[in-house]
Amino acid sequence: MTFTRKDFAAAARVIRERTSLEPRIGLVLGSGLGHLADTLVDADVVPYRDIPGWPQSTVEGHRGELVLGMLEGQPVVVQRGRAHFYEGYTPQQVTFPVRVMRELGVTTLILTNAAGGLNPDFHVGDVMLINDHINFVGMAGNNPLMGPNDPELGQRFIGMSQTYDRKLRQEAHRAASEAGITLREGVYVCLSGPTFETPAEVRMLRMLGGDAVGMSTVHEVLVARHGGMRVLAFSGITNLAIDRLDAGADANHEEVLEAGRLIVPRLEAILRGVLRNMAE
Ligand code: HPA
Repeated sequence: MTFTRKDFAAAARVIRERTSLEPRIGLVLGSGLGHLADTLVDADVVPYRDIPGWPQSTVEGHRGELVLGMLEGQPVVVQRGRAHFYEGYTPQQVTFPVRVMRELGVTTLILTNAAGGLNPDFHVGDVMLINDHINFVGMAGNNPLMGPNDPELGQRFIGMSQTYDRKLRQEAHRAASEAGITLREGVYVCLSGPTFETPAEVRMLRMLGGDAVGMSTVHEVLVARHGGMRVLAFSGITNLAIDRLDAGADANHEEVLEAGRLIVPRLEAILRGVLRNMAE
């Protein structure tokens, strides 16, 4: 399915009917990380099912609502739960919300996800600032920017060497250090899922320079950059990817959600700090 500007505008119209807020910052909260949306001041909530074209999340830990409100004195739009490629959505559907946020006037997109740690120095509960990515899903021919290009939405070819905004990364480090939180930094590997990685795949991804592995975010990042947005992204390390056979354990969604409880307060402190710093 190919969406056009008309579809993004129609979705944005429905959202505008439900709120007078004019957000400039968009936040996407990943698996088990939705709590921050509850803390918005003067919030307006729009369930995804009310927005035409908006993909519904079918995964536990993703509530499926858009929350617009004030966070650290800034008007924000928060996506509480996202749709994934592995749910059967096309890359265009997965990134539909990013286009709509752009239509609403969002110029900075902050994304979060749950990820497995590849870097042997990482611990469960760590927060990793994404400074670069390896997009296996895109390389396999599933890039959301494939197909006809609308120049009103962005250029045909997009440079990818300045994807994760340098200034925002600095702000993230500043916010983490002000909050006394260790902030890791590294390369996020995007796979399709829904299977977790085999030990051989984990060793390969590590060899290729990956620090964390997950099943989301990069599609949205590409579309945000296409639309000229500034991008900041974080992985919450919910489990350590298993790199040897017969380890006696397996990755599972429960541990991902469980670790979210550890990650949420850390991520929240960092995000609040970044927003405060941006307001300065
Ligand atoms: N692999 C892929 N995606 C994930 C993982 C993982 O280990 N943990 C959370 N999301």
